[in-house]
Amino acid sequence: MNLEGRVALVTGASGGIGRVIARRLAAAGARVVVNYRTGSEAAAEAADAIRAAGGEAISIGADVCDADAVEAMVSQVVGRWDGVDILVNNAGVTRDRLLLRMTPKEWDEVISVNLRGSFLCTKAVLPHMMKRRRGRIVSISSVVGTSGNPGQANYAASKAGIIGFTKAMAREVASRNITVNALAPGYITTAMVEQLSEEVRKAVLGRIPMSRFGAPEDVAEAVVFLCGDGAAYITGQVLGIDGGLAV
Ligand SMILES: NC(=O)c1ccc[n+]([C@@H]2O[C@H](COP(=O)([O-])OP(=O)(O)OC[C@H]3O[C@@H](n4cnc5c(N)ncnc54)[C@H](O)[C@@H]3O)[C@@H](O)[C@H]2O)c1
Repeated sequence: MNLEGRVALVTGASGGIGRVIARRLAAAGARVVVNYRTGSEAAAEAADAIRAAGGEAISIGADVCDADAVEAMVSQVVGRWDGVDILVNNAGVTRDRLLLRMTPKEWDEVISVNLRGSFLCTKAVLPHMMKRRRGRIVSISSVVGTSGNPGQANYAASKAGIIGFTKAMAREVASRNITVNALAPGYITTAMVEQLSEEVRKAVLGRIPMSRFGAPEDVAEAVVFLCGDGAAYITGQVLGIDGGLAV
């Protein structure tokens, strides 16, 4: 229970990887905020499941692209638990299409949730972390942020942006004892990967040295490690969670 008493905000935690990250942080002792985009009922279930397992959790609806909603969410967390120690920028979307057919709206939606959302949430929690002179920020990038992927120019740009953002922020807040890192998952079995056709799944598996897709738990374990005291001297890093795909 190395995160006893820490307050952790996980964005987009109603499903997929975020839900497992929230569960795992709670199991390590953190008090967890399950953020969800307004309209999702799964977040309340995710928080209920954490409480049923003996953890502490609340769910708060806020669109991560909306600056006022993000500020209001963080104020609510600070009002209840007196601060924020951990932020996991997990909320993300895809709008895949070859660039010649990609609409400006599809470009903007992906950049807005994945990159602007990470900026807004980081900006909102930072004053509270600086006040306590400690903090952990982990953002979920992707292998495609460095390798690129056809049909995902918007997504790859957003995930590459997260890497640059992470490195800049790591330098900006290191003196305040706040670490800022990114994870670069490969193919993790969630709704995002289940959309792939059988043919594409087979082709992808053939390129993964470990010959399996990752599990959300593989990502969550790395988050817990980076948020713990053992990772106090690790900042500005991008850790691949990809079964060797990007080696
Ligand atoms: N699944 C993979 O293989 C994989 C690989 C690399 C990176 N990732 C990244 O991991 C993260 C989680 O992905 P996932 O596979 O669990 O996908 P998912 O679609 O299951 O989860 C994404 C979550 O983000 C939430 N969300 C979307 N827009 C939001 C908004 N505006 N405000 C708040 N929440 C919002 C969704 O409701 C959902 O809960 C994403 O950032 C994704 O890009 C996933």
